[in-house]
Amino acid sequence: MSYSFNLPTQIVFGVNEIDKLAEHASVYGDRILFICPKDIIALARPIIDNLTQSRSKLTVIEHEPAEPSCQYIDQLSAELKQQASFDLIVGFGGGSAMDLAKALSIALSHDEPIWLYANLSNRPPLALTNQPLPVITIPTTSGTGSEVTPYAVLANNETKQKGTIQEPAIFPKLAIVDASLLTNMPQALTASTAIDAFAHALEATINISKPAPMAELFGVQAMKIIADNLAAVLANPKDKDLRQHMAHASTLAGMAISHRGTTTTHAIAEPLGALTKMPHAIAVAVTTMPVMRHSEKHASAVLARLDSEVFASAQASAASFNKNLESLINLAGFNKPLSAMLADEQLLGLADELVDNVMRFKFRPLKQHPIEWGEEGVRSIVNDLIHG
Ligand SMILES: [Fe+2]
Repeated sequence: MSYSFNLPTQIVFGVNEIDKLAEHASVYGDRILFICPKDIIALARPIIDNLTQSRSKLTVIEHEPAEPSCQYIDQLSAELKQQASFDLIVGFGGGSAMDLAKALSIALSHDEPIWLYANLSNRPPLALTNQPLPVITIPTTSGTGSEVTPYAVLANNETKQKGTIQEPAIFPKLAIVDASLLTNMPQALTASTAIDAFAHALEATINISKPAPMAELFGVQAMKIIADNLAAVLANPKDKDLRQHMAHASTLAGMAISHRGTTTTHAIAEPLGALTKMPHAIAVAVTTMPVMRHSEKHASAVLARLDSEVFASAQASAASFNKNLESLINLAGFNKPLSAMLADEQLLGLADELVDNVMRFKFRPLKQHPIEWGEEGVRSIVNDLIHG
């Protein structure tokens, strides 16, 4: 076996670590661009005040909570380039805010449209020509893992696609993972983001593309922590110890997908989110079981091992793994078909469009799954996803 492992992001993990942000930021300079979704600006206010008092020159962008579109990023970066230069970007929020910070680190140092840097399966990305701005990430959810990944997911509102920038140069310099920021997460967000993190860990672990022992080490541990703590954190959302467990799992899962990426579930869930505007974590939560049901007999050895390692199951079988996973997704409240979640007009033509999008733009992750499905296999999973 041969492998390489690199995680250039420093992780500062704990409770109230956020109080040291100004100190960490001062290493990079005074001119800070602070990215925060509108709906959690109150949570950010003390941090913004603290940075301002430390004589940082602060520009705050309050963005819509949805995943950033390439059109928005191009417009925002053009405006920002007119106004100021920056030494550092801070991404405060869930995956959308952190991905926006990473995408802006490229957009503010380059002139081409940001969509050209997205790595689509049918089109190689444009190479970077400059060093992106440094980024500090501060997650306020426990799911995306974006605080430690070199990825930024972009929506394209014109083509109704999602594309991912995959660029080692946008690994955040520092991730501050602070459980004191997590105790106000709503129940449904706690649940969906936990399943997204579990899916990252699972897909990185079963991914067959290359030897990646660290992905498996982090992935198994992340899945185990989520399986052991999800019920408790849903019942006790203010418990900082439980929030720390979930944050640790999410960061471990992010490290796993940084080492070896996602597979079929994310290949379907991303275009599903682009076509329906469904939040990423929910799209992943509803797609996971249809993919894993179809995978059961093709990944029996690895799923049997994970049944034992993740769920401490004596049966140690793929069928038992899927049963345990289904219970976890039931607990999160997402084990239902899309036909029970979307309006009739949203479902109209969705199966064809989704299969078409996966096969045209997201076929590369399909090759990393224990079994590679062609169009008919993907259609069968999508039918299960829509109709149950
Ligand atoms: Fe995800």
